[in-house]
Amino acid sequence: MTITSPVIAIDGPSGSGKGTIARRVADALGYHLLDSGALYRLTAIAAENRGIRLDDAAAVAETARGLDVRFDSHEDGSERIWLSGKDVTGEVRKESTGAGASTVAAHPAVREALLERQRAFQRVPGLVADGRDMGTHVFTSAALKIFLTASAEERAKRRYKQLKDKGLDVSLAALSRDIDDRDRRDSERSVAPLKPASDARILDSSGLSIEAVTETVLEWVAEL
Ligand code: C5P
Repeated sequence: MTITSPVIAIDGPSGSGKGTIARRVADALGYHLLDSGALYRLTAIAAENRGIRLDDAAAVAETARGLDVRFDSHEDGSERIWLSGKDVTGEVRKESTGAGASTVAAHPAVREALLERQRAFQRVPGLVADGRDMGTHVFTSAALKIFLTASAEERAKRRYKQLKDKGLDVSLAALSRDIDDRDRRDSERSVAPLKPASDARILDSSGLSIEAVTETVLEWVAEL
Protein backbone atom coordinates (compact mmCIF):
# COMPACT_ATOMS: atom_id res chain seq x y z
CA MET A 1 0.00 0.00 0.00
CA THR A 2 1.31 3.46 -0.82
CA ILE A 3 0.88 5.86 2.07
CA THR A 4 0.14 9.21 0.45
CA SER A 5 -0.50 11.25 3.56
CA PRO A 6 1.00 9.70 6.66
CA VAL A 7 -0.06 10.76 10.12
CA ILE A 8 2.37 11.30 12.97
CA ALA A 9 0.33 11.06 16.17
CA ILE A 10 1.72 12.73 19.28
CA ASP A 11 -0.23 12.15 22.49
CA GLY A 12 0.55 12.87 26.09
CA PRO A 13 -0.47 14.71 29.26
CA SER A 14 -0.75 18.48 29.71
CA GLY A 15 2.55 20.29 29.60
CA SER A 16 4.52 17.42 28.08
CA GLY A 17 5.50 19.72 25.22
CA LYS A 18 3.30 18.04 22.60
CA GLY A 19 2.15 21.29 21.03
CA THR A 20 5.64 22.73 20.62
CA ILE A 21 7.11 19.47 19.34
CA ALA A 22 4.21 18.82 16.98
CA ARG A 23 4.61 22.26 15.43
CA ARG A 24 8.38 21.87 15.01
CA VAL A 25 8.02 18.43 13.46
CA ALA A 26 5.24 19.62 11.12
CA ASP A 27 7.37 22.59 10.03
CA ALA A 28 10.43 20.39 9.44
CA LEU A 29 8.43 17.93 7.33
CA GLY A 30 6.20 20.51 5.62
CA TYR A 31 3.16 18.68 7.04
CA HIS A 32 -0.20 19.99 8.18
CA LEU A 33 -0.82 20.34 11.90
CA LEU A 34 -3.82 19.37 14.01
CA ASP A 35 -3.94 20.76 17.54
CA SER A 36 -6.90 18.65 18.63
CA GLY A 37 -6.92 20.18 22.12
CA ALA A 38 -7.81 23.52 20.52
CA LEU A 39 -11.04 21.99 19.21
CA TYR A 40 -12.06 20.91 22.73
CA ARG A 41 -11.04 24.31 24.06
CA LEU A 42 -13.07 26.07 21.35
CA THR A 43 -16.05 23.87 22.12
CA ALA A 44 -15.89 24.92 25.78
CA ILE A 45 -15.67 28.61 24.80
CA ALA A 46 -18.50 28.35 22.27
CA ALA A 47 -20.73 26.54 24.77
CA GLU A 48 -20.09 29.16 27.44
CA ASN A 49 -20.77 31.95 24.92
CA ARG A 50 -24.13 30.33 24.22
CA GLY A 51 -24.90 30.05 27.92
CA ILE A 52 -24.76 26.25 27.80
CA ARG A 53 -23.69 24.36 30.91
CA LEU A 54 -20.61 22.26 30.27
CA ASP A 55 -22.24 19.21 31.83
CA ASP A 56 -25.11 19.35 29.32
CA ALA A 57 -23.57 16.73 27.00
CA ALA A 58 -26.19 16.90 24.22
CA ALA A 59 -26.14 20.69 23.93
CA VAL A 60 -22.34 20.84 24.10
CA ALA A 61 -22.09 18.14 21.40
CA GLU A 62 -24.41 20.14 19.17
CA THR A 63 -22.18 23.18 19.75
CA ALA A 64 -19.13 21.07 18.82
CA ARG A 65 -20.77 19.93 15.58
CA GLY A 66 -21.57 23.51 14.60
CA LEU A 67 -18.20 25.07 15.52
CA ASP A 68 -17.30 27.85 13.11
CA VAL A 69 -13.51 28.04 13.48
CA ARG A 70 -10.60 29.28 11.43
CA PHE A 71 -6.92 28.75 12.18
CA ASP A 72 -4.69 31.39 10.54
CA SER A 73 -0.96 30.71 10.45
CA HIS A 74 1.41 33.51 9.64
CA GLU A 75 4.87 33.48 8.08
CA ASP A 76 6.45 34.50 11.40
CA GLY A 77 5.12 31.32 13.00
CA SER A 78 2.34 33.04 14.94
CA GLU A 79 -1.21 31.78 14.75
CA ARG A 80 -4.61 33.35 15.27
CA ILE A 81 -7.73 31.40 16.07
CA TRP A 82 -11.16 32.70 15.10
CA LEU A 83 -14.45 31.48 16.53
CA SER A 84 -17.58 32.69 14.72
CA GLY A 85 -15.54 35.58 13.34
CA LYS A 86 -14.14 36.62 16.74
CA ASP A 87 -10.44 36.44 17.58
CA VAL A 88 -10.20 34.06 20.54
CA THR A 89 -6.44 33.34 20.35
CA GLY A 90 -5.74 34.56 23.90
CA GLU A 91 -8.83 33.00 25.43
CA VAL A 92 -8.09 29.57 23.91
CA ARG A 93 -4.81 29.22 25.84
CA LYS A 94 -6.14 30.24 29.27
CA GLU A 95 -5.93 27.64 32.06
CA SER A 96 -9.65 28.08 32.75
CA THR A 97 -10.36 27.20 29.11
CA GLY A 98 -8.17 24.08 29.49
CA ALA A 99 -10.22 23.02 32.49
CA GLY A 100 -13.46 23.62 30.55
CA ALA A 101 -12.04 21.63 27.63
CA SER A 102 -11.31 18.64 29.83
CA THR A 103 -14.88 18.76 31.18
CA VAL A 104 -16.49 18.79 27.72
CA ALA A 105 -13.96 16.23 26.45
CA ALA A 106 -15.28 13.66 28.93
CA HIS A 107 -18.67 13.51 27.10
CA PRO A 108 -18.67 10.68 24.52
CA ALA A 109 -21.13 12.65 22.35
CA VAL A 110 -18.73 15.59 22.17
CA ARG A 111 -15.83 13.34 21.17
CA GLU A 112 -17.99 11.76 18.50
CA ALA A 113 -19.05 15.20 17.22
CA LEU A 114 -15.41 16.23 16.75
CA LEU A 115 -14.18 12.98 15.21
CA GLU A 116 -14.74 13.65 11.50
CA ARG A 117 -13.59 17.25 11.82
CA GLN A 118 -10.28 15.98 13.18
CA ARG A 119 -9.93 13.27 10.52
CA ALA A 120 -10.49 15.86 7.79
CA PHE A 121 -7.11 17.38 8.70
CA GLN A 122 -5.37 14.38 7.11
CA ARG A 123 -4.22 15.70 3.75
CA VAL A 124 -1.16 15.38 1.54
CA PRO A 125 1.72 15.56 2.11
CA GLY A 126 1.02 14.45 5.71
CA LEU A 127 -0.23 15.44 9.14
CA VAL A 128 1.21 15.84 12.59
CA ALA A 129 -1.67 15.51 15.09
CA ASP A 130 -1.31 16.20 18.78
CA GLY A 131 -3.71 15.43 21.62
CA ARG A 132 -4.72 12.67 23.99
CA ASP A 133 -6.26 10.04 21.70
CA MET A 134 -4.69 10.63 18.30
CA GLY A 135 -3.01 7.22 18.27
CA THR A 136 -5.69 5.31 20.20
CA HIS A 137 -8.88 6.55 18.49
CA VAL A 138 -8.71 9.26 15.87
CA PHE A 139 -5.84 8.01 13.71
CA THR A 140 -5.48 4.37 14.72
CA SER A 141 -3.44 3.58 11.60
CA ALA A 142 -1.01 6.47 12.07
CA ALA A 143 2.42 5.77 10.55
CA LEU A 144 4.09 6.75 13.82
CA LYS A 145 2.57 7.04 17.29
CA ILE A 146 4.42 8.82 20.02
CA PHE A 147 3.45 9.16 23.67
CA LEU A 148 5.30 12.17 24.99
CA THR A 149 5.66 12.44 28.75
CA ALA A 150 7.63 14.40 31.33
CA SER A 151 7.63 14.39 35.12
CA ALA A 152 4.65 16.16 36.70
CA GLU A 153 7.00 18.70 38.30
CA GLU A 154 8.66 19.57 35.02
CA ARG A 155 5.35 19.85 33.21
CA ALA A 156 4.02 22.30 35.80
CA LYS A 157 7.21 24.37 35.57
CA ARG A 158 7.06 24.51 31.77
CA ARG A 159 3.43 25.57 31.81
CA TYR A 160 4.25 28.20 34.43
CA LYS A 161 7.01 29.64 32.25
CA GLN A 162 4.80 29.58 29.16
CA LEU A 163 2.04 31.52 30.91
CA LYS A 164 4.45 33.96 32.59
CA ASP A 165 6.05 34.66 29.22
CA LYS A 166 2.61 35.58 27.96
CA GLY A 167 2.32 38.07 30.82
CA LEU A 168 -0.31 36.05 32.68
CA ASP A 169 -0.35 36.08 36.46
CA VAL A 170 -0.23 32.50 37.74
CA SER A 171 0.99 30.63 40.80
CA LEU A 172 3.09 27.49 40.40
CA ALA A 173 1.26 25.68 43.24
CA ALA A 174 -2.16 26.42 41.76
CA LEU A 175 -0.93 25.40 38.33
CA SER A 176 0.41 22.07 39.62
CA ARG A 177 -2.97 21.38 41.21
CA ASP A 178 -4.83 22.26 38.00
CA ILE A 179 -2.55 20.03 35.93
CA ASP A 180 -3.02 17.14 38.39
CA ASP A 181 -6.81 17.55 38.26
CA ARG A 182 -6.84 17.71 34.49
CA ASP A 183 -4.54 14.67 34.12
CA ARG A 184 -6.73 12.70 36.49
CA ARG A 185 -9.92 13.64 34.60
CA ASP A 186 -8.29 12.85 31.25
CA SER A 187 -6.86 9.51 32.41
CA GLU A 188 -9.88 8.26 34.31
CA ARG A 189 -12.67 9.11 31.88
CA SER A 190 -14.49 6.12 30.40
CA VAL A 191 -14.15 7.16 26.78
CA ALA A 192 -10.79 7.66 25.03
CA PRO A 193 -8.80 8.06 28.26
CA LEU A 194 -5.28 9.39 28.11
CA LYS A 195 -3.01 6.37 27.65
CA PRO A 196 -0.36 5.29 25.15
CA ALA A 197 -1.51 3.26 22.15
CA SER A 198 -0.20 -0.32 22.38
CA ASP A 199 2.03 0.42 19.38
CA ALA A 200 3.19 3.88 20.57
CA ARG A 201 6.81 4.77 21.20
CA ILE A 202 7.24 6.40 24.60
CA LEU A 203 9.37 9.50 24.75
CA ASP A 204 10.17 11.02 28.15
CA SER A 205 11.18 14.62 27.57
CA SER A 206 12.20 15.36 31.20
CA GLY A 207 15.54 17.12 31.10
CA LEU A 208 15.63 17.19 27.29
CA SER A 209 15.65 20.34 25.18
CA ILE A 210 12.95 21.04 22.61
CA GLU A 211 15.60 20.58 19.91
CA ALA A 212 16.65 17.16 21.24
CA VAL A 213 13.05 15.91 21.41
CA THR A 214 12.28 17.23 17.91
CA GLU A 215 15.43 15.55 16.61
CA THR A 216 14.43 12.19 18.12
CA VAL A 217 10.97 12.38 16.56
CA LEU A 218 12.46 13.28 13.17
CA GLU A 219 14.87 10.34 13.42
CA TRP A 220 11.92 8.02 14.07
CA VAL A 221 10.09 9.51 11.07
CA ALA A 222 13.17 8.91 8.91
CA GLU A 223 13.10 5.23 9.93
CA LEU A 224 9.56 4.75 8.56
O1 C5P B 1 -3.89 19.72 24.76
P1 C5P B 1 -4.74 20.74 25.45
O2 C5P B 1 -4.24 21.16 26.77
O3 C5P B 1 -5.06 21.90 24.57
O4 C5P B 1 -6.14 19.99 25.67
C1 C5P B 1 -7.15 20.53 26.47
C2 C5P B 1 -8.06 19.41 26.97
O5 C5P B 1 -8.78 18.86 25.87
C3 C5P B 1 -7.32 18.23 27.59
O6 C5P B 1 -7.11 18.39 28.97
C4 C5P B 1 -8.26 17.06 27.31
O7 C5P B 1 -9.24 16.93 28.29
C5 C5P B 1 -8.95 17.46 26.02
N1 C5P B 1 -8.42 16.75 24.87
C6 C5P B 1 -8.89 15.48 24.63
N2 C5P B 1 -8.49 14.82 23.52
C7 C5P B 1 -7.63 15.36 22.66
C8 C5P B 1 -7.09 16.65 22.92
C9 C5P B 1 -7.51 17.32 24.05
O8 C5P B 1 -9.67 14.96 25.39
N3 C5P B 1 -7.28 14.69 21.57
